Amino acid sequence: MNITSSLWHGAGRRIHLQEVGTRDGLQAECVFVPTEDKIALVNALSATGLSKIEVTSFTSPTAIPALRDAEVVLREIERRHGVVYSALVPNLRGAERAIEARADEFNLVMSASETHNLANLRMTREQSFAALAQVVQLARAQQVSVNISLSCAFGCPMEGDVSEPTVLAWAQRFVDLGVHGLTLCDTTGMAYPGQVALLTHAARQRWPGTELTLHFHNTRGMGLANVLAGIDAGADRFDASLGGIGGCPYAPGATGNVCTEEVVHALQLMDYDTGVDLERLIAASRRLPGLIGHDTPSQITKAGRRLDLHPVPADFETIRTRALARDTDTVPSP
Ligand code: COA
Ligand code: ZN
Repeated sequence: MNITSSLWHGAGRRIHLQEVGTRDGLQAECVFVPTEDKIALVNALSATGLSKIEVTSFTSPTAIPALRDAEVVLREIERRHGVVYSALVPNLRGAERAIEARADEFNLVMSASETHNLANLRMTREQSFAALAQVVQLARAQQVSVNISLSCAFGCPMEGDVSEPTVLAWAQRFVDLGVHGLTLCDTTGMAYPGQVALLTHAARQRWPGTELTLHFHNTRGMGLANVLAGIDAGADRFDASLGGIGGCPYAPGATGNVCTEEVVHALQLMDYDTGVDLERLIAASRRLPGLIGHDTPSQITKAGRRLDLHPVPADFETIRTRALARDTDTVPSP
């Protein structure tokens, strides 16, 4: 096996991590995180080396009250050179608000599943596409970059499998509109590695010039395995959420995204270059329970990094002395 270029040994290959905790994460929380705390959290995330941060969403404040302060948050964060500050935009109204607040990128969203699209966005897929095509036009006129996130690309919690041709056909329509990026979203953790490999490979082959992102939820414990399957199939951008929080409020059974610090931790051990300062990321994640009022799924904030060692037991010297004495007891006399 060629260890220098295998999946298990990244050999410094660049993998971009895109934080979605402040959008996908906070939208699912019952509490309203105070605006200044959101701003401080984004500022802390900006300092970790992440490639992109989905700061908030310009949805209806009645639909997603947790993010009703989108304008203030996006306007008042400290922007770092090299970080793309993205925002979810569901319609033209959202786009106008996002332009005012100076979003670097619109993350448009529609579902590859008709049922989920109706439940989430209250429109058929055709209606969504028509509305989003207008948003793309506006973005072009304003020179704002556009990413399309296709929800339920790996399965719908109400319909079941969404066929690969269906997913690719919807993506194609957006690529034809000239979008800069495409995200394939596993909204409720239905993806598995073999499926991820096939869909990623198909998307990379078909649209080599389009920025491809994979967005996994860890609902069934396959999140990290899916990230690795995606890397193996040629993906180099992943959404993840601090602490592993998140979930779509309109998808039954939805739970958190893959956890940013867990993905970074694993990829660093495997010699991938994420550009992320893990210590800062963990410090930011440890602030979350105080903000959202409950523990997060993050394993790393609890267990620490692989080589964050623990002290030996207090009576270790006694144990050692006794153990060594046992050796001398049993050594046969010459
Ligand atoms: N920003 C602010 N307000 C908005 C808005 C936006 N982007 N889009 C719609 N609204 C307001 C309308 O002004 C209207 O307000 P009113 O009742 O005070 O008049 C109300 O929302 C309903 O408007 P309507 O055009 O009928 O939209 P809708 O009810 O069909 O909602 C969505 C459409 C998609 C904008 C809304 O359901 C939504 O924001 N959903 C959240 C989707 C989401 O983020 N899901 C999770 C992420 S995947
Ligand atoms: Zn999601």
